[in-house]
Amino acid sequence: MSGRIPRQFIDDLLVRVDIVDIIDSHVPLKKTGSNYTARCPFHNEKSPSFNVNRNKQFYHCFGCGAGGNVISFLIEFNHLSFVEAIEELATFAGVEIPYENQTNCEPDAKNKLLDLQQLMAQVATFYVEQLRNHPQKNVAIDYLKGRGLPGVIARDFMIGYAPDGWQILSPHFKNTELLCEAGMLAFKNDMYYDRFRQRIMFPIRNKRGHVIGFGGRVLDDSQQPKYLNSPETPLFHKSNEVYGLYELLKKNPKPSRILIVEGYMDVVTLAQFEIEYSVAALGTNLTATQLQLLFRSTPEVILCFDGDKAGKDAAWKAMDAVFSILNDNRQVRVLLLPPEHDPDSLLRSEGVEAFTQRIENAEMVSSYFFNHFTVTLDLNSIEGRAKLAHQAKPFLLKLAGSFFKEMMVAKLKELTDFDVAPAIEKENAAPQQNRYQKENQNVRHSLERLTLALLVQNPQLVEKLDANPIDWQALDFAGIEVFKAIVQKICIEKPATIAQLLEHYRGQPEENMVNALAYLSVLVPEEGIEAEFTGALTRLLTKAKETRLEKLQIQATTRDLTDQEKEILRDLSR
Ligand code: UTP
Ligand code: MN
Repeated sequence: MSGRIPRQFIDDLLVRVDIVDIIDSHVPLKKTGSNYTARCPFHNEKSPSFNVNRNKQFYHCFGCGAGGNVISFLIEFNHLSFVEAIEELATFAGVEIPYENQTNCEPDAKNKLLDLQQLMAQVATFYVEQLRNHPQKNVAIDYLKGRGLPGVIARDFMIGYAPDGWQILSPHFKNTELLCEAGMLAFKNDMYYDRFRQRIMFPIRNKRGHVIGFGGRVLDDSQQPKYLNSPETPLFHKSNEVYGLYELLKKNPKPSRILIVEGYMDVVTLAQFEIEYSVAALGTNLTATQLQLLFRSTPEVILCFDGDKAGKDAAWKAMDAVFSILNDNRQVRVLLLPPEHDPDSLLRSEGVEAFTQRIENAEMVSSYFFNHFTVTLDLNSIEGRAKLAHQAKPFLLKLAGSFFKEMMVAKLKELTDFDVAPAIEKENAAPQQNRYQKENQNVRHSLERLTLALLVQNPQLVEKLDANPIDWQALDFAGIEVFKAIVQKICIEKPATIAQLLEHYRGQPEENMVNALAYLSVLVPEEGIEAEFTGALTRLLTKAKETRLEKLQIQATTRDLTDQEKEILRDLSR
């Protein structure tokens, strides 16, 4: 959030990274001819219509029409914002983003976020200082000691103390309005007061280490609520974040697995026992965004829930999010702890070895999923098996095309003793995918569209235009303005690949048009593209001349032509 990203940097980045590498690390690709293919991650399909073209640096699915450059892929696949996608690419390429100091584009909004970020960092430091220096610090220190938490862990997690008092932050930080926007103050009866009072403070940091919110625990269990969390603020969106990710990645940037637990205290206790790969889901139902966030750093996520009814319900509820993000490269396991225990209490009672063994033995999500039904339904009856098919189907439909999906369908078939695959496939076949395919094949492209498509798909052809400059005066057809604008853009920007060109059009009115041209199948083999283009260009210009000639000839029968028009007519007739 530190300013604009220069256009040139984005162009360079698109040259530096290879779309095939990036997509392959998310969706394994198979080389077929000059393309790489896979089953499309954006819709369910049996045979691969997802294509990645290395030369052109873009992907396209002939099934559902999804497509774009590597930035579009990251945005769609990982649910990232544009800036996050650029950041991810920069990390992949191992380069720093040279943010410009923002001068245009919502300077107020950006400065506000920076101000909030700075304030939150200061507040976190302030609470840490209170734990060291406040006259009543001993209640807090005793509480933490009572829970067996060592000082180093408190330090690593930047744990602090919000003293007892209604007006502590405002006099110290002066900026009441900003504190309020940061969620640190609440407003009631015409008064601002500190939201967190007499609580142990757990700062929630985002992946990059910025404090974006807090969780505060009471010192005395008779107080309610036990945990108070920051409200939603411009910095903090609870359902997109997890607690402990920054601390985890600091210890190990590429963990082989991440354990999701329920509570703040669980995360810090696990770390204390050197299980330094856990995060907590901030007291919400687990979301797909939270899972995506974790899968960007690890191939395996283990959902760890308390063994009470609430924990069991939460584990099952998480399946919605889990099934929407699973693929062959991602593994999810489920670990239900004994009732009356959470990781914190269990670790302290049975020790780290026993607990680690539980992690090792955690159940695969596939098995957890089907077991859930076998205990709730009577699979000896047709009725029970029909219910199973009915209840399992929506989950399987969420799965992106993968071997995993096929195997889950096969398992369902076995359990129901019924061929469920046709019913699932029928719902998977999105009606629009075939329509798109047909349109693309059946349309006979107009000469103008063909010429433009060739140019958009192979922007290096712009050099041919230097040799055969287009006589814009002569060209006249519906859509000439867009045609002209795109050609000019290519002449000026000289994009190295179509991927760069698409980037220049992101968010522009012509974006859809240019995308459509990019995916138009022109069926010209690589070695024939140049000849096809010059040929199309010549025909286009000839056709344009003929149209102009015809028009002038018709006009000549109704009025006197100007001298200039006569000259053109002479030229054209030659
Ligand atoms: P738990 O009630 O299981 O607490 O809530 P805990 O983590 O075991 O806490 P300790 O051990 O008693 O200190 C699990 C999580 O649910 C959210 C918090 O994120 C908490 O860590 N929660 C719980 C709240 O947001 N508010 C509450 O009042 C209680
Ligand atoms: Mn607990």
